[in-house]
Amino acid sequence: MTSVFPWALGGPLSLYLGLLVVTLALHAAFIGYVLGGIGWVVVAAIRGRKDPVSEVARDWLPFALGAAITAGVAPLLFVQLVYQERFYTANLLLFHRWMAVVPALIVGFYLLYLHKSEKVKRRGGQIAVAVIAAACFGFVAWSWTENHLLSQDKGAWQGLYASGGMLYVSPAVVPRLLMWLMASLPIFAAGAAWQVRAKHGDESAASVRRLAIVALVGIALSTGAALWLWQQMSDDARYDLDQSMMGPWWIALITARAAEAIAWGLVARRPAARAWLARASVAGGLAIVTGAMVREGARLHALEPLRERWIMSGGKILFAIAAVVSIAAIVALYKIVRRGLAEGPPA
Ligand code: HEM
Repeated sequence: MTSVFPWALGGPLSLYLGLLVVTLALHAAFIGYVLGGIGWVVVAAIRGRKDPVSEVARDWLPFALGAAITAGVAPLLFVQLVYQERFYTANLLLFHRWMAVVPALIVGFYLLYLHKSEKVKRRGGQIAVAVIAAACFGFVAWSWTENHLLSQDKGAWQGLYASGGMLYVSPAVVPRLLMWLMASLPIFAAGAAWQVRAKHGDESAASVRRLAIVALVGIALSTGAALWLWQQMSDDARYDLDQSMMGPWWIALITARAAEAIAWGLVARRPAARAWLARASVAGGLAIVTGAMVREGARLHALEPLRERWIMSGGKILFAIAAVVSIAAIVALYKIVRRGLAEGPPA
């Protein structure tokens, strides 16, 4: 057993925590594209100008949202397993407010398709479609952040239940949400930069440069929001993040973020150079995974009551069998779809 999180915790708990982090990182990559992409689309609609980036965002946003939602299922299962009482209690306390996430996602989803179909011709209509979709996704992001913080704040549960309120107010909500929204910009920038390059080749340089600048602004603002969050977070969370088992993740996160910023800076100077975009993307990917590790490390205290039970319990073999069967099913479906696409539509 190593002394690094999550292995330092031992037993099945470290396995499920590791899987929670990795699957959440995948979810974060897709929501980053959705939040950053819809932000770009809103600005383009307000300016009344189409540009190559808003066009690829329009084409890819429905797919990215579908991927974000499906990629949310795996961490949802793991978060329920690891933080049972806290997660469920926060869901129940927020009640209708929490359930409102579902209609918000449905409305947002259809608006993205409406936007893609270009059926709405008038500029006012286009702005309305983009702004309402952005409000839907912003609401969902806010809800997850609020639910997460409420699940950590046991002291607030009784008061919220007694008041019958469905809104959890804490000084950590705004900086945390801001951190997520700003962190979405470099993620979207990386995805969209590859897409405009693939579509427009050498003519994409101006768009890639703009994306690089947006990525740099996102890195700076999300870092600022993270420092603000540090001041507002609970003493328990700060204590957990100070544990030696989190040290390597802090170093890895700061290194990845710094490398990402440098690489984006070089992309802004030489937007045609593919190698720097590749480095910015790899560093961004590492920043997402290491950031997810640090995020998880802030709630070590929430694990304590369950830890003994987890270490005593088994389930690894059953889990491994289920994982193999699921992966085999995914591969089989992939092959069926590929064959279907290669054969083309039925005559
Ligand atoms: C547009 C859609 C979505 C957006 C913008 C979004 C955004 C977010 C954000 C910002 C967080 C981080 C919360 C925090 O750390 O403060 C988060 C966490 C999470 N999301 Fe999503 N999400 C979306 C859809 C979904 C869906 C549909 C699912 C489930 C199927 C899901 C599952 C999760 C899970 C399990 C977490 C971790 C919760 C925790 O650790 O407390 N998300 N999401």
